Amino acid sequence: MNYIEEVRKLVAGKKAYVRTYGCQLNENDGEKIIAMLKAMGYLITDNAEEADFALLNTCAIRENAEKKTYGAIGVFKHYKELNPGLVVAMSGCMTGEEHVIESLRKTYRHVDVVFGANNIEAFPRLLFLHLTEARRVFDTEYDDSVPPANLPTARAFPFKSGVPVMYGCNNFCTYCIVPYVRGRERSRDEADIINEIKALRDDGCKEVMLLGQNVNSFGGGGDAFANLLKKVSDTGIERIRFMTSHPKDLSPAVLEVMAERENICKCLHLPVQSGNNRVLESMNRRYTREKYLSIVKLAREKMPGLSITTDIIVGFPGETNEEFVDTLSLLEEVRFDAIFSFIYSPRRGTPAEKMPDVLSVEEKKANFEKLLEVQNRISGEINETYLGKTVSVLCEGVSKTDAGNMSGRTEGGKIVNFPGSQDMIGKILEVKITETKTWNLQGEAVCR
Ligand code: 5AD
Ligand code: SF4
Repeated sequence: MNYIEEVRKLVAGKKAYVRTYGCQLNENDGEKIIAMLKAMGYLITDNAEEADFALLNTCAIRENAEKKTYGAIGVFKHYKELNPGLVVAMSGCMTGEEHVIESLRKTYRHVDVVFGANNIEAFPRLLFLHLTEARRVFDTEYDDSVPPANLPTARAFPFKSGVPVMYGCNNFCTYCIVPYVRGRERSRDEADIINEIKALRDDGCKEVMLLGQNVNSFGGGGDAFANLLKKVSDTGIERIRFMTSHPKDLSPAVLEVMAERENICKCLHLPVQSGNNRVLESMNRRYTREKYLSIVKLAREKMPGLSITTDIIVGFPGETNEEFVDTLSLLEEVRFDAIFSFIYSPRRGTPAEKMPDVLSVEEKKANFEKLLEVQNRISGEINETYLGKTVSVLCEGVSKTDAGNMSGRTEGGKIVNFPGSQDMIGKILEVKITETKTWNLQGEAVCR
């Protein structure tokens, strides 16, 4: 049965609302779900209040993300009271957690359709079952398939797109829930990836971000990702980025290809998590501070000016103040362009959940503030070196913080704001930097 056509007969012209939380992979799933909704005849709305269908595409990485989802589920209950015809659905990583499914079944009985992150192609069938049989439909069985290559997608931006290359994670870092909710590593077919990127290029897309929890183990690891990068580069698409790289798997061959190819952005997201070897071991990261520093050194030798960003967890169970100081000194030693830092959040069923803490919540918060303080100074100092330079910027839209400016990103991922007009959106422009700040750069577009 063609479920998309069948649902279309039932819902054409109705309104659907989708809210996605979390990472780019989830955003990518969200775009595919929106494309399916459009194919089923729904009109997409940004206003949940007027929707006939509302979906939460959830994230489970930290408690904060889950709290937001539970808040939204509560709001949707109210909307359903106002509009009993409202269909409420949930997808994404939280649906991979047993305790979440249990509370959806028992407590949140207004949630009608639930499907797993590895199973989005089942969505039209599940929605059809709900609409025709008037029952709740849950399909969250573990499934380690790769979504079909021909799933349509509704790109959020015409000029840039995420392209998943692999799904899942085998690393089992002791704090992380991803391997439990997204399952084992599996890669997409290389030809499917390249065809998708060629189609994006032909459609005027300027930038692709190759996505995966650990892109370096694409195709089973070794040099497979480096070879994929070469083929992606050969498509001639203007900008290529990728994330995330696990430091233990980043091969010198990848750095080689990055250095060689002009259309691969000279920027690397390389999560370190901690600068202390005991903590790294307890996290099951399988590299040392020294090994990490040696990768950074090699990368910078091959690509002077490479922009490096990282993720850091503050307050991992058992982390002492002395151990935290090693993370601060690592920031000084590496001088990251930017960091994404998080206070440790216990995740149910992970080994770290059972590890005892030594620091209080207040001490963890104080350390977190210290981390930001050090990094803000370093980011500001690095940004200052851009003053007077001209950089290539892909214009992404009107600045979120200043409607008088357009905003875009350099190859290294830095945000640049500059006066301009809507017709610049989606173009790669040369911008001369006239002022630098901690978090972004200000400039003026110059003629090529
Ligand atoms: N608590 C805090 N941060 C976490 N991350 C993953 N799991 C947790 C957790 N339980 C962070 C890591 C990872 C990023 C995506 O999220 O830094 O690299
Ligand atoms: Fe989580 Fe570690 Fe896998 Fe990243 S590599 S998704 S932090 S388990």
